[in-house]
Amino acid sequence: MTDFGGKQAVVTGAASGIGRATAKALGDSGATVTLLDVNDELGKSAAEEAGGTYVHLDVSQPDEWRRLFSSFDRLDLLHLNAGIYDISLTDITQISDERYRAYMGVNLDGVFFGLREAVPLLEPSKGAVVVTSSMAGLMPLPGNPVYSATKWALIGLVRSVHGDLEGRGIRINALCPGGVATPLMGDDPHAFFESRGLAAFEPEVLAGTVVEMLASDRSGETILHRPPGDPEVFEFARLPAR
Ligand code: NAI
Repeated sequence: MTDFGGKQAVVTGAASGIGRATAKALGDSGATVTLLDVNDELGKSAAEEAGGTYVHLDVSQPDEWRRLFSSFDRLDLLHLNAGIYDISLTDITQISDERYRAYMGVNLDGVFFGLREAVPLLEPSKGAVVVTSSMAGLMPLPGNPVYSATKWALIGLVRSVHGDLEGRGIRINALCPGGVATPLMGDDPHAFFESRGLAAFEPEVLAGTVVEMLASDRSGETILHRPPGDPEVFEFARLPAR
């Protein structure tokens, strides 16, 4: 088991799903975890589970990131994971101005601002970052082009910034999950994926991958974590840094 004893970790979207499972896995590995989310009730219970601290933080707001990190004296592990999605959308005309801004704000700005503000803290500790993108960042998602666009952009961000970060001793990789049974996919996520002929992983499986990625020496890579139909077997593809 990975030993993150003495490490300071931050996870966004940590109240639910993949982020919640990652916060718990990091806590179990010995890290001191700060869980960020906008869902205070779930966030507090997730923090109890992970033995960490919950902080209300809207990832799309740069001032909130600056305020958070002004109280940190070190940061080793960062999982930029918060995201939104609408399972009922079928085409571009259904996406309102407000919803478009929300997608950009949470899925893209939230990663950019979090990363930019974290770099000065990650540099002295030679820290590691995992960004949660999506399979929709590697292949088209016709029903929800804005979600897909934000996730493609995250891969571009990671692949472009990793060289600079490597020079500062910071590792960064992108994780592209396929199907994960979380509340993002509605009240019955397994039924959602089954209706599309897909299987779904439990979020704990993804959390294990995030921990491995944070512990790894590699950087600039995009890891596809796609269940091809059998939840016991997954396809694990790696897009190299260059
Ligand atoms: P989830 O809905 O269980 O968790 C997302 C969390 O993000 C929630 O706790 C929510 O309150 C939080 N959040 C939303 N807006 C926020 C904001 N402005 N500031 C801070 N926190 C905010 O969803 P899940 O599935 O765990 O999603 C995590 C990431 O994984 C997302 O980026 C999602 O796009 C990505 N993903 C999920 C897949 C799946 O099949 N569930 C597949 C591919 C990617």
